[in-house]
Amino acid sequence: MKQRLLGKKAAITGASSGIGRATAVRMAKEGADVALIARNLKRLEEVAALVRAEGRRAVVIEADVTDAEGMKAAVAEAIRELGGLDVFHCNAGIYLRCPAKDLRMDQIRKLMEVDYFGCLNCVYAVLPYFLEKKSGSIVTTCSMDGKKGVPPDAAYVGAKFAMNGFFQVLRQELRGSGVHVGIVYPSRMDTPQIAHVDCPKITPKGDPDMVARAVVRSVVKKKKELLVPSFSCHLLTWADALSPSLSDWLVRVNRISGTVNDVEPINEAK
Ligand SMILES: NC(=O)c1ccc[n+]([C@@H]2O[C@H](COP(=O)([O-])OP(=O)(O)OC[C@H]3O[C@@H](n4cnc5c(N)ncnc54)[C@H](OP(=O)(O)O)[C@@H]3O)[C@@H](O)[C@H]2O)c1
Repeated sequence: MKQRLLGKKAAITGASSGIGRATAVRMAKEGADVALIARNLKRLEEVAALVRAEGRRAVVIEADVTDAEGMKAAVAEAIRELGGLDVFHCNAGIYLRCPAKDLRMDQIRKLMEVDYFGCLNCVYAVLPYFLEKKSGSIVTTCSMDGKKGVPPDAAYVGAKFAMNGFFQVLRQELRGSGVHVGIVYPSRMDTPQIAHVDCPKITPKGDPDMVARAVVRSVVKKKKELLVPSFSCHLLTWADALSPSLSDWLVRVNRISGTVNDVEPINEAK
């Protein structure tokens, strides 16, 4: 296999689990050295072992994305330990499933704090470095929930729509700077984040490696936006552009919301 990221150095937030973990392994397979950022050191070390098994360097960095100064220190450490940085994957995030009428403001703020402001802490930590060297790629894991609101995810949807809007503007403002901005929009993926959600057969959970491949593709091909999986997600966004009633109906008849099982939710705003 041709290694499309050979010699590149990447940092990934939320690398201890799910999509971040899959992206770390995928990037290592593509030849990149990787800085793995999250709060759980034990799980980060497990992912580091997978990266090293691919013959690449792995640096483990314990940091919380809600801590702006901590993220600046994490980026500095990644640059120092890897000898530079070419890719930053803003991926850490939490999820909350709760009807809008029952949400508390502190839950909504927590979602914004981690999923939106946490992502911006990463952007502002790495952007000066990328602008200075006139190159680099910032790719974020948004969500199809940042394109079309699906019940009962109002708090999460709000944070992902905010992220989508910010990155669309950032991308346009950085045109010509040498810095690439990519947004990846996954639909439901089989990760611990939604282990407590069952999805109908017609819209099954995908393999997180599908998202990892999209992140790599975004970096390599300088893609602006990638929907995962492509066909069904584009169908929903086209339907939404045509008529909100049509896309609401598609969400309803395909039971895209899914149902809750008895697995304990993780990383939630309680
Ligand atoms: N799974 C899906 O269906 C799906 C669909 C669309 C988008 N997404 C998005 O994809 C991203 C990854 O989600 P996932 O499904 O892979 O979930 P996951 O398996 O629960 O992983 C979430 C990751 O985020 C990290 N994290 C959470 N809060 C953090 C904080 N305050 N500071 C630093 N790291 C933090 C967690 O690590 P620690 O606990 O070790 O800190 C973990 O590594 C999220 O942004 C999510 O919203 C997921």
